[in-house]
Amino acid sequence: MNKFEDYLNKFTEADWLEFIESLVPTVHEVDRNALQIWFRFFPLELFRHLEAAEDRELAKSKLAMLGRYEIKDQVDTSHHFLYGHRFWKETKQAIEKEAETFTASEHGLTDEIKKIAITVAERRQVERTLTTAIAAVGLMTLVQSGLEAFKAATGQVEKPSGLLAKSPDKIVAARAEDDSQGIFGFLKTINKKYSIIYDETRARGKFPVISQEEIASASAKDQSQNWKEMDERCWEGVVPVECTSAACGTCWVGVIGGQDKLSPVSRRERRAMKTFGYNQPDDEKPFLRLACQAEALGNATIVIPPWNGVFGKKIYNNVEDVELEPVTTSAKNLRETIASATAAGKSDE
Ligand code: FES
Repeated sequence: MNKFEDYLNKFTEADWLEFIESLVPTVHEVDRNALQIWFRFFPLELFRHLEAAEDRELAKSKLAMLGRYEIKDQVDTSHHFLYGHRFWKETKQAIEKEAETFTASEHGLTDEIKKIAITVAERRQVERTLTTAIAAVGLMTLVQSGLEAFKAATGQVEKPSGLLAKSPDKIVAARAEDDSQGIFGFLKTINKKYSIIYDETRARGKFPVISQEEIASASAKDQSQNWKEMDERCWEGVVPVECTSAACGTCWVGVIGGQDKLSPVSRRERRAMKTFGYNQPDDEKPFLRLACQAEALGNATIVIPPWNGVFGKKIYNNVEDVELEPVTTSAKNLRETIASATAAGKSDE
């Protein structure tokens, strides 16, 4: 580890979250939720727990980890949903340079983040409000990937497309809009139709939802693509699901737009999120939700994390003993039973 990595590694996840919270007012609205969501998608203490495990595979299975949770495999991509993703190449370069020249920090981590953000903003001739989020994400990416893997990544990112090619203000405005209900839409009291946007880079990156329908149930109706081929956790729609009853943690999502247009968090969801280990803020309508519990009351823009697990008790020790069946049990077994019963039925015909 070099001096810069050593310095960054002094901080706990709680420290980072405190720094991030203090920086949020200085971040353009386009990336405010995205920044906070990214730090929840890649929890430092979970990373450290797995790093320290003697038998990593065993530790992973105890936490029912599924999907791609390691940053070192996605140094250039994990932050694809940030507006600042387009500044990644310069951010990565600025961090590498800081790692080479760092001797000691005179101030603190917030100032290190600001320093990177200023360098990138000057290089790209944009406001620092647009580079602060990616600078913070970049530094945590270094912590969790290590300098070698960080440097080995190409730093190349795709040109912004779809809604993300527009200006930050236009993106914020578009996220706040609801689908039109037609000329007589104001007369409708039920069956209003909205959209859940899960990929802002494509016009087709969304699925319809009926007012008061849960996000996961709407996602399951969208059979437009072979979702399972893209992510083995997606056996219904684009949102990974298992139990659909707040009992497995598979369907967690970040909400980057329209969080106020989702139903309030129920006690059941609140408790389950703690058990899973997902750091959901205490707000009535927070930016981290279970898609099988959150009902849509308008358009919302979500981000689907590439993994899920159940680690609240083990990592944060903030939950009582629970009798929770993780993803590897109930719903999956049920599906397998149905699949084998169907196959047996066919061969009998
Ligand atoms: S699908 Fe299991 S918690 Fe939502």
